[in-house]
Amino acid sequence: MKRFQPGAFIFVLLLLVAGLSMPYCKKPSDKKITPDSADTPYVLTPDTIETPLYFPKPVIPDDNKPYKERIQLGRMLYYDSLLSGDGSRACASCHRQQYGFSDTGLYASAMPVLPHVNLAWYSNFMWDGSKTGTLEDVMLFEVQVFFATDLNKMNQNTTYKSLFKKYFNVTSIGYKEIAYVLAQYLRSVVSGGTRFEQVMYHAKGSFTTDEYWGYRIFFTETGDCFHCHVNPVMTDGLMHNTGLDSLYGKTADQGLFNITGKNDDLGKFRTANLRNVALRNRFMHDGRFTTLDEVIDFYDHGMHKVANLDPVMALPAKANGLHLSATQKRQLKAFLNTLTDSTFIKDTAFARLK
Ligand code: HEC
Ligand code: HEC
Repeated sequence: MKRFQPGAFIFVLLLLVAGLSMPYCKKPSDKKITPDSADTPYVLTPDTIETPLYFPKPVIPDDNKPYKERIQLGRMLYYDSLLSGDGSRACASCHRQQYGFSDTGLYASAMPVLPHVNLAWYSNFMWDGSKTGTLEDVMLFEVQVFFATDLNKMNQNTTYKSLFKKYFNVTSIGYKEIAYVLAQYLRSVVSGGTRFEQVMYHAKGSFTTDEYWGYRIFFTETGDCFHCHVNPVMTDGLMHNTGLDSLYGKTADQGLFNITGKNDDLGKFRTANLRNVALRNRFMHDGRFTTLDEVIDFYDHGMHKVANLDPVMALPAKANGLHLSATQKRQLKAFLNTLTDSTFIKDTAFARLK
């Protein structure tokens, strides 16, 4: 009888594992997905949300685990104006990849478009934190309320109808399925390749002198930015009053107060995500600043000492602001510029399907 040979066994096992994992290594195709007519149950391909090692674990609800096909379907819908009730716009009309899935200028002359980047790590959404929960919850709002998606139109579209049938086994497309695939797609939109990260985590390139000192200002008590703009997501995702206003003339400036009615929440906004911030040209919830120099000047000497000013902003050493030198301001701005992820904004895995 032939003896059992562990070496050969392991070799075969390795071949099998390599074979099975091959499709997972591939980048998603850029071709539009077309349904086949077969009615046989479709087996979805599990996916993982690829995140840099230094990131915390993303929140993924048990009933919406990532699958390659559903992510691609979400991606297809994200770029399709059929999704808006009147057919006039797609998500990507405002959330534009070249600007880090944000945009320049203001939406409805009132506020900047929030970027779609690393949303898997959020539980407070919108400038004023008016939406909370999972990405699925927010997507339901986007589709049902903001876009008023016409389900009849969706169901009349034979491509979508058969794709949803195939991937969800539903005979009729509902808001929930649309929200779920959009949530899957947006959860896959991960950025981890800023210049800052290249230098810090991947030993690629190095900081200029200005960038290095700017980095020091950002991550030490000198600038104290890191307390709220927490690495690596570049936001703590929490609500703060940073002393932008002392009087709340416009209702929109009252922030979280408009949702909770609590005085302590007056003027609180969610910490902005600083990834790709240099690609934008409107800053803060109302886009009041148009350059990063103006933002830095605000933190330097522009804030108001309001009753519920965030404790970090009110540290005694700050005496109404940071009072940086002109050189330090230039350095801080140089650091903010290293938060641009130029790979992310060109990554074809997130682009419109051809
Ligand atoms: C007309 C421009 C426009 C279109 C189209 C648009 N958005 Fe937005 N989006 C915005 C603006 C402006 C904000 C900030 C709104 C706020 O804070 O109240 C925003 C915020 C968001 C947020 C919150 C992000 C965060 O950081 O909290 C999500 C999620 C979102 N949009 C998803 C979508 C989806 C999904 C679609 C398509 C169904 C879509 N948006 C279409 C302009 C747009
Ligand atoms: C106490 C928390 C806190 C601290 C400390 C803080 N920020 Fe902010 N930051 C915020 C919040 C909240 C917003 C959003 C405000 C709004 O929506 O109007 C913001 C917005 C910004 C923006 C605008 C981003 C955009 O997309 O509009 C920039 C740039 C910025 N901060 C940079 C800095 C820098 C640089 C420092 C350090 C000098 C700093 N922040 C310190 C909480 C903080």
